[in-house]
Amino acid sequence: MQNQETHSISEPQASQQVQPQFLFKSLSDKYEKDNIGHGKGVYISTYGCQMNVNDSDRMYALLEMANFTPVNDPEQAEVIIINACSVREKPVHKVYSEVGTYRKLKERNPNLKIGVGGCVGSQEKGKLIDQQPLIDFVFGTDNIDSLPEIVAKSFINPNDSVIETQFRHREPYMVETLVRNPGVSTFVNITKGCDNFCTFCVVPYTRGREKSRPYSHVIDDIKNLMQRGVKEVTVLGQNVNSYKSECGKDFADLLEGIVLETEVERVRYTTSHPKDFDEKLMKVMAKYNPRICEYIHLPIQSGNSEVLKRMNRGYTREEYLAKVNQIKSILPNAVLSTDIIVGFPGETEEQFKDTVSLVLEVGYETIYAFKYSPRPFTKAARFEDQVPEDVKSRRLDELLAAHDQWTREEVKKYEGQVLKVLVDQFDDKRNSLSGRTTQNKNVFFLGEKDLVGKIIDVKITKAFPSTMRGEVI
Ligand code: 5AD
Ligand code: SF4
Repeated sequence: MQNQETHSISEPQASQQVQPQFLFKSLSDKYEKDNIGHGKGVYISTYGCQMNVNDSDRMYALLEMANFTPVNDPEQAEVIIINACSVREKPVHKVYSEVGTYRKLKERNPNLKIGVGGCVGSQEKGKLIDQQPLIDFVFGTDNIDSLPEIVAKSFINPNDSVIETQFRHREPYMVETLVRNPGVSTFVNITKGCDNFCTFCVVPYTRGREKSRPYSHVIDDIKNLMQRGVKEVTVLGQNVNSYKSECGKDFADLLEGIVLETEVERVRYTTSHPKDFDEKLMKVMAKYNPRICEYIHLPIQSGNSEVLKRMNRGYTREEYLAKVNQIKSILPNAVLSTDIIVGFPGETEEQFKDTVSLVLEVGYETIYAFKYSPRPFTKAARFEDQVPEDVKSRRLDELLAAHDQWTREEVKKYEGQVLKVLVDQFDDKRNSLSGRTTQNKNVFFLGEKDLVGKIIDVKITKAFPSTMRGEVI
């Protein structure tokens, strides 16, 4: 039971065409036989991006297969896991303070197991347990598939902490998508890790080297998810544009394959890297739009070429703008969003102003802007000219205010338009529905529950920067 090598998902070589259904079946058979969980309640607390949310879903699915019972309340749990992202904030503090809140539960039930996983696990390793002995086990982003065994070890030897954070650099990325309740719209991972080493970013250190899943596995996953009622998939990776399958297919080929080989109604993806976003992809998006949604998240990070160079982003302001213009001519309805860092080490007031001007020039409807935060292992954390905190805060406010003013006016263009909405939620308290347009706007409107899962026409009555109200026509 404790032997990780019994995990069949880590064994096959990339060249073998192992079907995801087979892997899934072998896992569920194995856990059925072993009954690691004995029905124990498990609660997972998640901080972070879509990747972390997706990882937590995978953890729940694996643990449920091993006969643990997911619960919504830590008081009901015999296993509590904190899955935390470490991209920006100081997540380690958050983890410690959350673990502290479970002290009473642990006193009441000494068999309660507390684990920390994901990016913070990969980053901090055994240090977490040295600092906070209430923690029983720590695992990294590459050890999620051993989680049932890790938890089992923790129960079998209650006095030993379990630390499994090693990367499986040499193993191909051969896992199938595991989602407990996929709903109408769900995520499908296609790559993991990142090799870009932007100087501010911890991801290459917490998620390891970039690897792509086999093409046929992605297609089979989507077919399986559709049988479970999924209508829309968001293809996920740190840099989806550098996807390369074992049979030589690139990201544009993969999107085309998804559209041609499955009947999924909508495909989205995130995140792109501007240096790898090419004309071939733009053309595939245009050819299969609206099944491939015309929404592109294209992180710029800074509007100044000198700062971009120090960030090791691999493009200049001018090259980025040329790409945006190309997108606008090939995909005239495309809606763009972006990520921005203000106060990167050495950023001058003029360089910051270049970011503001670029944001307004491109016309992003949504921006995700952050103050630079030094991360462990990264080059920029060692740059000398760090920007003071108050300057970062002021720049962030200035950028957000300039963008907000622009976008509030811009989105009014949607009022009165009839948009195709894939309905994905029903709120029974308010008797209202919500769903998303192909351009990734969240629309709220009144309607019946049986519309969930359908693509319907909604007339927009009020448009805000990221949400809209409408009525079914
Ligand atoms: N400081 C601030 N923001 C960061 N991001 C990544 N690393 C840092 C950091 N050290 C932002 C980038 C990235 C997004 C996911 O988080 O904008 O695109
Ligand atoms: Fe981080 Fe850069 Fe990789 Fe994105 S591309 S995950 S910012 S290193």
